[in-house]
Amino acid sequence: MWGGRFESEPADAARAFTRSFPWDRRLYREDIVASRAHAAMLGARDIIAASDADALTAGLDRLLQELDAAGGPADAGDEDIHSYVERLLIERLGDPGRRLHTARSRNDQVATDMRLYVKGLTLRIGRALVDLMDALVDRAEPETVAPGFTHLQSGQPVTLGHYLLAIHEMLSRDLDGCYQVFTLADACPLGSGALAGVPYDIDREQVAHALHFSQITRNSMDAVADRDYLLALLNLGVGILLHLSRWAEDLVIWAAPGFAMVEFADAYATGSSIMPQKKNPDIAELVRGRAGTALGIASGMAATVKGVPLTYGLDLQEDKQALFRMEDLVLPTLGIMRDAFATLNFDRERMAQLAESGYATATEIADFLVEQHGAPFREAHEIAGRVVSEAIGAGVELTALTDDRLRAIDQRLGSDLRERLTAASAVARRDVPGGTAPRQVRLAIADARGRVDLERGRLRELAAAGLPAALGPWG
Ligand code: ARG
Repeated sequence: MWGGRFESEPADAARAFTRSFPWDRRLYREDIVASRAHAAMLGARDIIAASDADALTAGLDRLLQELDAAGGPADAGDEDIHSYVERLLIERLGDPGRRLHTARSRNDQVATDMRLYVKGLTLRIGRALVDLMDALVDRAEPETVAPGFTHLQSGQPVTLGHYLLAIHEMLSRDLDGCYQVFTLADACPLGSGALAGVPYDIDREQVAHALHFSQITRNSMDAVADRDYLLALLNLGVGILLHLSRWAEDLVIWAAPGFAMVEFADAYATGSSIMPQKKNPDIAELVRGRAGTALGIASGMAATVKGVPLTYGLDLQEDKQALFRMEDLVLPTLGIMRDAFATLNFDRERMAQLAESGYATATEIADFLVEQHGAPFREAHEIAGRVVSEAIGAGVELTALTDDRLRAIDQRLGSDLRERLTAASAVARRDVPGGTAPRQVRLAIADARGRVDLERGRLRELAAAGLPAALGPWG
């Protein structure tokens, strides 16, 4: 492909070291579809003969079909996916094949392939996020009480639905991130050539349009050097895994004997080779672990990019490994979290018990004094603290303190306080927008359900409008 000025073949070791085919074979669809758009444009502009362009587009279509049927290209030793596709066209078509690389460089070509791939991946990740969000909404129970923690200490009771919708919020921000990355990747570099543009009367808009890019890149040097869309995709992946990891950490804690609020289904847990009683939350632990791996991939790629002088350097070729490794971390993790969560068993009794234990409703005492007796909150908080201390001393829960004991601490405390100390009452009173009261959670569930439906439609539309159909199926 580039041997003209060389007197010897590359050493086997040098060839093996520099080639990227083992990874970038995954770009075969993008490479073929982008080459097809390029060839059609060359023909339309009379840069190559129309008959050559026709031979190329037909040859590329056939190749795509064959490779799809074969499950992708096999490694025949080519340097990268670009030279692989070109070689096959030359072998099959002869001269027309030799004309495909007119007015193009592998530098603008690979940037185009990568942007197409990233755009498609954001939609696939978006869909997996929506599936998981859907599963969360499905199990969001507005009435079931559960303990809410800060510092992993008993904080205040919440409803299970409220907790699950908190995870839903995190994922919904990730979904926003998918659209942002899609937009960042949505400009066509073809026509930038190696770095300076090309000396042919090309039609960049036509190529961009055929590839469903909403615009062309504005500067040829930036276009071949830029990997911001990739770094953004990697950071999106890290963000998703950080969210899943925090949730997984909660599930590990919730499944631990001291908490015992949930139990993983047998199909999504594992045993110990030596301790027969064990049921380990391995999936949740691995999700935590994978977040660390993802962070390494993203920071590694940022470190790779930071030293590359404008414009292109082969360092950038490492981007494929980062991209595919991230894809292989994020998509299966989203899928397994959904499966493991959808089959998780909740112990609602245990949740209710923990929701009231650890004096988790102590704030109610202060709020009662403020609301019923006009006490300043600071004073009320102090009195509530003395009630807690009394209960700790007596070794009982707040609800077990007698009226006499309560009144001995403060005249205003009595039996009308006691009914407020249940978890059900505490959650019902937090009836503000964004609060945990069942009434609010029911509204939030309806909202979240609406969002899931809306996003499914939005992702479908974006796939239809923003990506070439040949890259699908997206449905
Ligand atoms: N395999 C290369 C990559 O992935 C394609 C671009 C090669 N360009 C070059 N000037 N060597 O980045």
